[in-house]
Amino acid sequence: MKFIVCETYEEMSKIGADMFTEVIKNDPKCIIGLATGSTPVGMYSELIKRNQAGEISFKDVTSYNLDEYYHLSGDHPQSYRYFMNQNLFDHIDIDKAHTFVPDGFAEDPNAYGKEYDAQIQAAGGIDIQVLGLGVNGHIAFNEPAEELCASTHLTDLTESTIKANSRFFESEDEVPKKALTMGLGSIMHSKKIIVLANGVAKHEVIKKLLGDEITTSCPATLLKCHRDVTVICDKAAYNG
Ligand code: GLP
Repeated sequence: MKFIVCETYEEMSKIGADMFTEVIKNDPKCIIGLATGSTPVGMYSELIKRNQAGEISFKDVTSYNLDEYYHLSGDHPQSYRYFMNQNLFDHIDIDKAHTFVPDGFAEDPNAYGKEYDAQIQAAGGIDIQVLGLGVNGHIAFNEPAEELCASTHLTDLTESTIKANSRFFESEDEVPKKALTMGLGSIMHSKKIIVLANGVAKHEVIKKLLGDEITTSCPATLLKCHRDVTVICDKAAYNG
């Protein structure tokens, strides 16, 4: 696991965008893995700028998102499909038919999850995946637990995640209690992973990533088993 410590959120976002730009330039038909949350928004803005300036094209790129709230439809302003349209897809030349976000209304979510993973592998696998970090160490919606799932699956959200994510909803009651999420296996199959983290709230997790321990009580620590992970964080997340 490699660490890059930045002065500012903007610098972190630019370095993340540089890594995506390199992959897209090397293979215009690449598969990218995308995340939601406030952290990657700056990187997405930077990619939009570069696309609009003609520096990179998403015309032949395919994207897969990590997760979606259970039973929120794509036109719900807090759904992750809506978030991706607003923060990236609506502003770049990607073919929306080639953008995939797990279906929060899948009838049999676990069977659906296995198909989602199979589709990614059949497409050649994710070339570069961006991840944010939950303050409790979750990645996507893989919450701290005694056991974690390998495949894309339906999961319960923890109290702490419901609380943390309630800032985007009118009230805590409105936050869905479940979500579909890629599993640890799905994420670990990505060829290259970048983790973005800014702000002191992420320091505890970054500290665990800097140490040698791997534990399902901090799912992000499992990323230490992957051979190509770059953590790009600001000084506040790094130093506390
Ligand atoms: C949600 C998402 C995660 C994301 C996390 C962090 O829980 N499921 O993928 O990493 O939020 O959010 P933020 O970037 O807003 O801190």
